[in-house]
Amino acid sequence: MFDGRNGVVNGTVLVTGATGTLGREVVRLLVARGVAVRGLSRRARGGGDGVDWVVGDLVTGAGIAEATAGVEVVVDCATTQRKADVSGVRTLVERAREAGVRHLVYVSIVGIDRVPLAYYRAKLACERVVRESGLGWTVLRATQFHDLLLKVFDASAKLPVFPAPGGVRFQPVDVREVAAAVAGLVGEEPAGFAPEVAGPQVRSYRELAEAYLRAAGRRRVLLPLRIPGAVGRGLRAGGNLAPERAVGRGTFEEALERRFGDR
Ligand SMILES: NC(=O)c1ccc[n+]([C@@H]2O[C@H](COP(=O)([O-])OP(=O)(O)OC[C@H]3O[C@@H](n4cnc5c(N)ncnc54)[C@H](OP(=O)(O)O)[C@@H]3O)[C@@H](O)[C@H]2O)c1
Repeated sequence: MFDGRNGVVNGTVLVTGATGTLGREVVRLLVARGVAVRGLSRRARGGGDGVDWVVGDLVTGAGIAEATAGVEVVVDCATTQRKADVSGVRTLVERAREAGVRHLVYVSIVGIDRVPLAYYRAKLACERVVRESGLGWTVLRATQFHDLLLKVFDASAKLPVFPAPGGVRFQPVDVREVAAAVAGLVGEEPAGFAPEVAGPQVRSYRELAEAYLRAAGRRRVLLPLRIPGAVGRGLRAGGNLAPERAVGRGTFEEALERRFGDR
């Protein structure tokens, strides 16, 4: 059983999205701590990594009752990157309630209430489902992972010109630091909104893109563009940033170094 005094969890922890960028780091940390981890994926996976892999799909609901059975803590790191997340969280909450889960840790994004992107509105709706779940809950919001910017820049570098939205800044964070914060919440009492986790530096999009292109050894013309509407206004106002929560240490340049070496 959970022992709140020393932050130990002896029951099973279900990690959804256990194969994802964040989830696999959370799993790695929990397994290293000796926690019994059940990992959810839509595809069957082999064992041998200390994880009890189960197959389930949050959107269809298949396998979720089995995945939550006998679980003490659920860490939800799954995402469809779409609105479907909302029904997925609803299913997870219902099955978790039936299974008597003690604590649901939900990972969210800094500024989802300030930047009205469709995905962010869905995340906000997910948070509401978690808050109203009747379960013990903790929500941890983080800024963009370095990996996400790398993916966006990889895609942009394939275009003839490299789009660079004007006035937009990011505060990217090392996903391993977010994972450490998430794993730290497992074994703690449900805390509501946990302190946000943001990267060490607020940087302009252009500056980050130029650093990427330098590290990748590529030349591209940056095409300034203006993101229209409320999303653009929210981003230009820094709605996606949390400078007062710059607790991450890993810089974007370090992520570039890991990715491209000294090319
Ligand atoms: N990426 C960022 O910059 C960032 C920043 C702040 C917060 N977050 C939040 O952190 C969480 C993790 O993000 P991430 O970037 O690590 O995601 P990711 O790499 O895209 O991984 C998504 C995970 O969700 C699982 N998944 C997708 N559809 C599913 C479904 N229908 N049923 C069950 N599982 C499903 C996938 O597992 P299988 O394919 O194995 O089924 C995969 O493990 C999300 O809640 C995201 O909003 C992300």
